Amino acid sequence: MDGGIDDALALILALKSPELEVAGITAVSGNVPVEQATINGLKVVELLDRSDVWVARGLGNPLFRDPIRATAFHGSDGLGDSNLPLPKLSPTKKLALNAILETLASSKRQSTTIICTGPLTNVAALLTEFPEAREMIEEIVMMGGAYFVTKYGFGNETPVAEFNTYSDPEAAKIVFEADVPIRAVGLDVTMNPRVQLTKSDYDQLRNRKGRVCAFASSILKNNMRRYGRFALHDPMAVAVKIKPSLFQFSNFHAQVETKGEYTLGMTVADRRDWLPDDRLVGRSVMVCTSAVPKFKQFFLTRLTAA
Ligand code: BDR
Ligand code: CA
Repeated sequence: MDGGIDDALALILALKSPELEVAGITAVSGNVPVEQATINGLKVVELLDRSDVWVARGLGNPLFRDPIRATAFHGSDGLGDSNLPLPKLSPTKKLALNAILETLASSKRQSTTIICTGPLTNVAALLTEFPEAREMIEEIVMMGGAYFVTKYGFGNETPVAEFNTYSDPEAAKIVFEADVPIRAVGLDVTMNPRVQLTKSDYDQLRNRKGRVCAFASSILKNNMRRYGRFALHDPMAVAVKIKPSLFQFSNFHAQVETKGEYTLGMTVADRRDWLPDDRLVGRSVMVCTSAVPKFKQFFLTRLTAA
């Protein structure tokens, strides 16, 4: 996770879902610097009294580039300038890559999924430094990219690139080229207004009692006031693992652009279905092509449940 508002909501959803056993969280440089992303992960873990879940500070910079931030959108604290108190919990002293590797090695072979809600820097470094990790991972579910497979599937950071893949395109390329199954949730689905929070969804949340609803409404407050809606990018990637029936995926070959003057960080999905596989660009990725509107109610129900 890279410490943004929707990262926090995604983590709440994961920790409140009995279908998932969350082993640990690694923070990464992205929306905010990695130190802040780590603090934000700890805030959520503490909010839900889940000190059994470790939080590790991951890499502080993209593999080969300077970081870009999204503090104009997520606030200088990454959590909508909510300035909630600092957590009492501390991150694990383990290096993030070692923490992930240990978790993978100690769980049943290929039973662990890595859900990525930020730039893919940590995962790319893991796959490069510890190639043996590849065969221990069941799949990578990532929020990232824009695949031009729906009318919403164009860029947000640039005309064609989504923030997470644009932030560290080389890392995204390494992950896309690794021999690990990928399910990608891109802007194609997350930008569909039918699955975004509206003012009335927000009011539902704001009027509910309890610490989690208070936390969620305070981190959403500024953006709801400013834009009147909020895209649930990262929670959708988590929900794919909890309730797959809410989503549809199609198989595309895809690659990440790392050189283009106007296309850096673009996820290029090859839609030429008349060509044989070996003539298509990139490797096979399951790309999310739709989410049912019910997703939003599912998300709100989980968030507001006691
Ligand atoms: C992605 O970029 C970040 O700002 C969000 O947290 C999400 O992961 C959406 O493009
Ligand atoms: Ca994120």
